[in-house]
Amino acid sequence: MCGIVGYLGDTEAAPVIFESLKRLEYRGYDSYGFATLKNKEFFIKKGEGKISDASIQNLSRGLPGFMGVGHSRWATHGKVSAENSHPHTDCNGDFLVVHNGIIENYQELRKELKVKGHRFRSDTDTEIIPHLIEEYSELGFEDAVKKAVSRLKGRYAIVTLSRESDKIIGVRRGSPLIVGVKNNVKDSSKGSGKGLSKKRKEYFLASDIPAFLKHTSNVMYLDDEEMVVIDRTGRGIKFYSMENGKEIEKRIVNIGWDPGQAEKNGFEHFMLKEIMEQKDTIRMAINQNMEDIERISKDIKNAFGTFFTGCGTAGNVCLAGEYIFSKVAGKHINFIVSSEFPNYHHFMTDKTLLIAISQSGETADLLEAIEAAKKKHVRIISLVNVMGSSLDRKSDHSFLINAGPEKAVASTKAATSQLALVTLLAYACAGKLDEGRRLLIETASKVNDMINPRYEKHIRGLAEKIHSKENMYIIGRSLNYPMALESAIKIQEVSYIHAQGFAGGELKHGPLALIDKGTPCIALVANDEVKNDIISNAVEIKSRGGYIIGVAPENNEVFDYWIKVPDVGNASPIVNIIPIQILAYHLAILRGHDPDYPKNLAKSVTVK
Ligand code: G6P
Repeated sequence: MCGIVGYLGDTEAAPVIFESLKRLEYRGYDSYGFATLKNKEFFIKKGEGKISDASIQNLSRGLPGFMGVGHSRWATHGKVSAENSHPHTDCNGDFLVVHNGIIENYQELRKELKVKGHRFRSDTDTEIIPHLIEEYSELGFEDAVKKAVSRLKGRYAIVTLSRESDKIIGVRRGSPLIVGVKNNVKDSSKGSGKGLSKKRKEYFLASDIPAFLKHTSNVMYLDDEEMVVIDRTGRGIKFYSMENGKEIEKRIVNIGWDPGQAEKNGFEHFMLKEIMEQKDTIRMAINQNMEDIERISKDIKNAFGTFFTGCGTAGNVCLAGEYIFSKVAGKHINFIVSSEFPNYHHFMTDKTLLIAISQSGETADLLEAIEAAKKKHVRIISLVNVMGSSLDRKSDHSFLINAGPEKAVASTKAATSQLALVTLLAYACAGKLDEGRRLLIETASKVNDMINPRYEKHIRGLAEKIHSKENMYIIGRSLNYPMALESAIKIQEVSYIHAQGFAGGELKHGPLALIDKGTPCIALVANDEVKNDIISNAVEIKSRGGYIIGVAPENNEVFDYWIKVPDVGNASPIVNIIPIQILAYHLAILRGHDPDYPKNLAKSVTVK
């Protein structure tokens, strides 16, 4: 939540920061702010609403300089307002800070600083940071930041500037912060950078890689409890441990993403683009080192208790994983939703294995679960999309799902990639890796055939029929029960229709009372042993007036609307969720909502 960026280079900073921030908007979009530094003067602009609704010309005007910071906010402390948007400054305007995360002890620090005479202008937890830096400013900028940060409790990342210095400093503790490095700047932009050597580097700081991917795919990762200092004068970069103050050597890593992957490429929304990318991403997810798959699947088999953990959509994939491992490998794996993990892990030991699933690898609840597990010496295996993310770095082994950047808040392609990889691991665990690979390659090719404009139009036709409804229900059994839950999340988060998923068998224990004439109910069907049961559940709903939408390989007389999906056996969760993603997208559009930026939500939830 919240996106932060910093820039130091040879071109005007404001347009670079504006563009970078637009690419981070999925992290928070209720207000924004920028600051640049030139000739020991700060230039600051703030606004309410989405940054992409603001004009770059208007914003860049009056923001001179080649270094600066930006922030896109998802409010936690203090209402949405220009005063509460970042950057925040100290009393004299000598230091400014942009921040992502939560400072848990801000109330006591604020009281302490007020007693010392500091004047606060916002209701945020962030504002205490520049005041703390001011308090310790006699130590010099770097040491003042170190000292200030040592007083903070919570998870956060900050980027800070000092009016008197040519340095930009970033600190990471629990929230993401990545450095992008661009080598060999060819030439400085018009009117700027006179006299700068052609070999000087440009530096980017950001909460996520897409922010600067247009400029570079070379990154340097900060770990937790580390600080980066980028110096404009010598154009040098240094990393320090916040624990012992020592300098740390870092490598530049090329993450291998291509800039186009983080753009809309002609699609109106990232969500639709990412849904369509599933033509390729499923195949990419199973493009793994098969020796690693065999080795880890043996570990899963032999572990004294294996658990899944994840949040939101990734949590639903975990639940599907439970079913897939049970059915395919006869292996019992429990799913513990990450936010509850610290309350349900006391029995774990060094023989336990935890499989963590996450698109971003930065979700705060998930990282807390990992910390709790690590205290018990549990081994961590992760399925994660973002290379170098906190989860990737904290895991004993990670599988990258290779889905490319996912920017829409609603997770689509990452979910099916995670499902594919979980399915592959389950087959490997059963000693049937080749069979699993064949199934998933066939599924990827059937998904490729399935997703076409005609298919989308058919689903749009359904969206047109039901978009004015306020309640929807989704049922599934076996492998498709978790997909009923995932369908509900997809529909809720982008269309704001109240949607709930149930296990088909649970209907008669309550949900049937909710069915009225014309209530849309989706039945997720596969050609499996529960097919007849789920069809019977659909009949029960229909006899109470429900409007039945069947997502199934074959039509059935109970369906009022049929969405055909390929018959792919145990990979059915992958193909059954895709039409629901398309439906959710069109419901959002027809109801006048922006599917990429659902209200009250953010893509990367880095607060508890
Ligand atoms: C947020 C997003 C969801 C996502 C969940 C977990 O709630 O809006 O789309 O499923 O976080 O995120 P992760 O990055 O850990 O998969």
